[in-house]
Amino acid sequence: RIAGPSGLVIFGVTGDLSRKKLMPAVYDLANRGLLPPGFSLIGFARRDWENEDFAQIVHDAVKEHARTPFREEVWQQLVQGCRFVQGDFDDDNAFETLKHTIEELDKAQGTGGNFAFYLSVPPKFFPTVVQQLKKHGLAEQTEKSWRRAVIEKPFGHDLKSAQELNSIVHDVFPPNEVFRIDHYLGKETVQNILALRFANTLFEPIWNRSYVDHVQITMAEDIGIGGRAGYYDGIGAARDVIQNHLLQLLALTAMEEPASFDADALVAEKTKVLGAVRLPKELGKETVFGQYAAGWQGGEKVVGYCEEEGIDPHSKTDTYAAIKLEIDNRRWAGVPFYLRTGKRLGRRVTEIAVVFQRAPHSPFDDTATEELGQNALVIRVQPDEGVTLRFGSKVPGTSMEVRDVSMDFAYGESFTESSPEAYERLILDVLLGDANLFPRLKEVELSWQILDPIEEYWDKHGTPARYPAGTWGPVEADEMLARDGRSWRRP
Ligand code: BG6
Repeated sequence: RIAGPSGLVIFGVTGDLSRKKLMPAVYDLANRGLLPPGFSLIGFARRDWENEDFAQIVHDAVKEHARTPFREEVWQQLVQGCRFVQGDFDDDNAFETLKHTIEELDKAQGTGGNFAFYLSVPPKFFPTVVQQLKKHGLAEQTEKSWRRAVIEKPFGHDLKSAQELNSIVHDVFPPNEVFRIDHYLGKETVQNILALRFANTLFEPIWNRSYVDHVQITMAEDIGIGGRAGYYDGIGAARDVIQNHLLQLLALTAMEEPASFDADALVAEKTKVLGAVRLPKELGKETVFGQYAAGWQGGEKVVGYCEEEGIDPHSKTDTYAAIKLEIDNRRWAGVPFYLRTGKRLGRRVTEIAVVFQRAPHSPFDDTATEELGQNALVIRVQPDEGVTLRFGSKVPGTSMEVRDVSMDFAYGESFTESSPEAYERLILDVLLGDANLFPRLKEVELSWQILDPIEEYWDKHGTPARYPAGTWGPVEADEMLARDGRSWRRP
């Protein structure tokens, strides 16, 4: 899978995402030999840079963040196709310059007119950029060449705005040339959910309400909001990651087997299961939103969310969210899916824990199994990528005591191949026109349909529950599970 003649234009190229993820991903693809000769990278931003300044920025970003080792000859190839276009998003001259730059690269680098436009900009600029592309004839497909739009999440901030945004985008790009990014789908461990479930016989027979007690999906981060106040405040944890990453994890965990591994078959199953998600009856009891207060993290004192630079000191934005969902279908009826995410939690970890019911009967006396937990299969998405199976085993000795043990699969131990970074995989797929790992509009809509009533409820009712930075979130979230006779895992 090597991309054909093409180039990538990044809007918002001075941002963090571009520097830490996109530029290094392009280099890594080049280094792995997956980009075509003459591949070109155009940066578009307000900054007063020349091509050389931009090349230097890309160079530094690559040296700092690329996964693969720096090789001068690869860099020298790549830099041939690096250009910078300076301007505001509403600046017609800048878009004309962009057009000429693309034409110049088509001639000099042989990019064949094939360009993907990556919108790594705050969501409020999506419509302007897309409309400018149309106005300046940059989005036109020809028989021989394609133009694609790559749009970062969140796609809208609720159902209505997502639909509005979609009609603007589709007025400019045909649906199959629009790639909505959810970088979790680019992660190896996330793609492995389907391999684990559907390439084996072992798990699927017990992957249902007859055996599963509940599922916990956790995305915990130890970082605060860093320099992202402008983006984060008013958006919050649920819109930032539950609407996309966590609901995608839920869909992959709960969906039926797709007829094949192609975009249409996948979306058919994912939308079926997202459409069957049932919101809690009592939003006040079965959802919790929280905000971090000052606390300690990694031995250092850190400030609370409202004291962060650029944040409204009275902000009610959620930096933590926990939600209980159910899925109304034959496989999952009555099995709760608990989703939680938060910034400034105990540690960085993303996992999906499928927790099984207790054995219906035990021939051992209660004291022998006192400490025994429930069997669980834990898909460790990151950082310690792998899968853990937890079950009870006899403790060596003369009495019959049973205790929890784990069986572990770790990527690092089983494979010599290194995992590509999520953005690497996704950028390559965009250039190849492969849409398997990109959410379709219907999925985005269904996800907002799930989240909108919850956000509305939070807006109307009260303030976020406080939790000290460095802990595992508000006590209200523990109480939420305790009411169901369960508790959160402490990964
Ligand atoms: C992004 C969110 O989508 O994912 C960030 O906007 C979050 O708030 C990030 O920090 C986490 O990504 P990863 O790949 O480090 O889990």
